[in-house]
Amino acid sequence: MIQASSLELRQHKKLVTVWSITFLILFPVLITFGLLMRMKQGEVLNIGHDTFYALMTLHGLGMAGVLFSIAWAALFYLIGTRYARLNIKVGYFIYFLVLIGTVELVIASLIGKFGAGWYLLYPLPFKGANWASWATGLSIIALIVLGVAWLIGSLHVVYALSNKYGSFYKLMGWNYLGKKEPEQKLPSIVLITTASLVPAILSFLAGAVFLVMNLMQQFEPTLAFDPLLLKNLVFFFGHTLVNVTMYLGVAWVYALLPEYTKREWGVNKVVVLSWNGTFIFIMFAYFHHLYMDFAQPLGLHYAGQLASYFSAIPATVVTMFGVIVQFYHSKMKWSIIPMTFLIGMAGWAIGGFAAVVDSTISINKILHNTLWVPAHFHTYMLLGIVLFIFGFLFYLAYCNSEERNDPKPGFGFWTFVVGAFGFVLMFYLGGMNSVPRRYSDYVAIESGNVHHTGALLAKIAAVFVGIILIGLFTMYGSLFVKLLKPSKANS
Ligand code: HEM
Repeated sequence: MIQASSLELRQHKKLVTVWSITFLILFPVLITFGLLMRMKQGEVLNIGHDTFYALMTLHGLGMAGVLFSIAWAALFYLIGTRYARLNIKVGYFIYFLVLIGTVELVIASLIGKFGAGWYLLYPLPFKGANWASWATGLSIIALIVLGVAWLIGSLHVVYALSNKYGSFYKLMGWNYLGKKEPEQKLPSIVLITTASLVPAILSFLAGAVFLVMNLMQQFEPTLAFDPLLLKNLVFFFGHTLVNVTMYLGVAWVYALLPEYTKREWGVNKVVVLSWNGTFIFIMFAYFHHLYMDFAQPLGLHYAGQLASYFSAIPATVVTMFGVIVQFYHSKMKWSIIPMTFLIGMAGWAIGGFAAVVDSTISINKILHNTLWVPAHFHTYMLLGIVLFIFGFLFYLAYCNSEERNDPKPGFGFWTFVVGAFGFVLMFYLGGMNSVPRRYSDYVAIESGNVHHTGALLAKIAAVFVGIILIGLFTMYGSLFVKLLKPSKANS
């Protein structure tokens, strides 16, 4: 632990507030793009296919990027004020890089109509695309800027932690595996941050290779790369980024929940083994996205299924068990913050289970590229990490325990949760009825009832998105005022 000075606390609080306000503005905008997509699929809104795909690309990249960025910023605050000294200037530098990358992406999608989807499936953006070539180039540059920002940000945090705790060996808790108790205790947030950010750094490097190859292709159209290699690189990057975002949220739940339950949630052999397991398996689980790629070596498909099972089980099971131990008979007050953590854990477990189902090869043959896929990742993002983020934001905004027990945001929170479960349920039902993903509408599908069912479910989903927005803006009523009010920092 470190003792941050009041100046350091104020500087950190200001930086994290800037990040938080930016997140609170961008999040409903990105949800609105999702609403427009569901309305188009439900045939109640007439926008062109090119607009749909531009919105889908901006929504997917935007959500993944915004959530990783705010999760990183939350940890930058918690680590920088409690566990290791971080350079506040680096924090602002990352913020401005992320802002530049985001503006570039918005221009490329909304003006240039770049619509290749989040993973820019090579060579799709360069072959017969119906958007301007400059939009492809600008999107690639935007992603490079974002990737550089996240890489520097992650390296800075891991470097500061290893300076404070001695070595990577200690950061990963390996000194807990011997017979003797380590002299210096390792906070769980530090272990989980390391086990998440190191694979993230590797995935950013893979993403950099992918993006530079794409940039070369943009400038020299006669080049031809191996599409399977590029698909592996981009899925390693994207899949790891989303998983790591989830784990960063889990990291602060380990740190903050004990303040409510008044029970320690420390590191021991089991916690070390589980997060070390996740550290390894998280890097191989993405193979489950390539089952349909017949040219991929068969062994990697099996590796993908096993890694998906193993990456989900240790950290999830150990964390869920820890959460139960934290809450059981704890006599704490059920205020908004522990509530967001509890329901967020449920969202992570439900979405994670649906992901494991889909990563099972025999089931994936049926569910592949149906709405089941957006169903599972929307569950653990919208009802998992997003709730953890709101838990953190309320923690940040409410300066003392009296405020933290404020019952007002409860209505907004439950409205959000009901809307979000209804919204993802329509995706699951779509998947079970063979409604394909990434279709701007289902009009041309002649098989069975897919067209009718897909459009109906999309219409109902749009209503639930409206409920989500009502819940969100109700929570904003409590959050914005408190966040903008000059106040003492939490420490
Ligand atoms: C209420 C909130 C949200 C709504 C209404 C929404 C809506 C949608 C819709 C309609 C699609 C297209 C599905 C398809 O037909 O394939 C989609 C895709 C996607 N969404 Fe969301 N979403 C929401 C929240 C989120 C969140 C929190 C994330 C966080 C990562 C996210 C990430 C994505 C991604 C990565 C895609 C895939 C884009 C692609 O295929 O290129 N969404 N979303």
